[in-house]
Amino acid sequence: MKELLSKIEKLKKEKNAVILAHYYVNDEIQEIADYVGDSYYLSKVAVELPEQVIVFCGVTFMGESAKILSPQKTVIMPEALADCPMAHMAAIDKIKEVREKYDDLAVVCYINSTAEIKKYVDVCVTSSNALKIVKALPQQNIYFVPDQNLGQYIASQLPEKQFIFNDGYCHVHDEIMIDELEEAKAAHPKAKVLVHPECTMTVIGGADYVGSTSGIIDYATASDADEFIIGTEIGIFYQLKKNNPDKKFYTINNKQICPNMKKISLGKVAYALENGINQIEVDNETRTKAVLALEKMLELAK
Ligand code: 13P
Ligand code: SF4
Repeated sequence: MKELLSKIEKLKKEKNAVILAHYYVNDEIQEIADYVGDSYYLSKVAVELPEQVIVFCGVTFMGESAKILSPQKTVIMPEALADCPMAHMAAIDKIKEVREKYDDLAVVCYINSTAEIKKYVDVCVTSSNALKIVKALPQQNIYFVPDQNLGQYIASQLPEKQFIFNDGYCHVHDEIMIDELEEAKAAHPKAKVLVHPECTMTVIGGADYVGSTSGIIDYATASDADEFIIGTEIGIFYQLKKNNPDKKFYTINNKQICPNMKKISLGKVAYALENGINQIEVDNETRTKAVLALEKMLELAK
């Protein structure tokens, strides 16, 4: 382990590389990362950093977004198969169909989507900026892809707009059930409930706070409460406990695990960096179209 860590440090210097990690990856990866954050923070930081090589410890859409926004940089994924299934749950034909049906429509795309889908949408959002961005859009009708749960949560906050939903979902969050939340509340009656907006509206209805991974960490850190029930992927517990060693955190069920994020290991980080493998490639036609929705997100989220 010690050897692996010094190998990664040495390779980083040699290659002028920086390691970015999402809050859902394994603890030891978050520990060695130069920057850890939610999807919005990571997409921003990837653009701003001077290093030309980014090792992205997250799932494919995250590396792809970094490459689309910074095409001159090399983006390496430690594990080529770490992909988010929800990113594939939107259809170009359906987007075209909805565009024909509605005037005054904006297609709003969660960043958890493929580069191909991003070519056909008007703006990207993440869970931390979706509300602000959709609110600021001049269009009355919003087609929200791919996540129906995040779409419905945003719609519940913006009754002045009309939403059309897609049927995508994240299995990790969608499978958190309200009866499991009720059981957790009964077991920990003093705990505050903090959930991600990829959870269902029923679960969201039982929460004290709804927000992105960073939002959940910030809320728990600032709160006077000592106990929290957490409705998102278990990797977030590393930062929650690091920031709040005296507070207690509980899951709602024992399936809050994203198998794709968990595929990334220290060995894979070292191997990918050493050999320059699993580089993200986005063809020029896709990039020049997809970048518009991502740049619009960065602009509107400011
Ligand atoms: P955040 O943007 O809140 O980090 O969420 C990313 C994600 O994949 C949630 O499942
Ligand atoms: Fe995708 Fe869900 Fe994993 Fe997030 S937790 S990367 S939405 S599968």
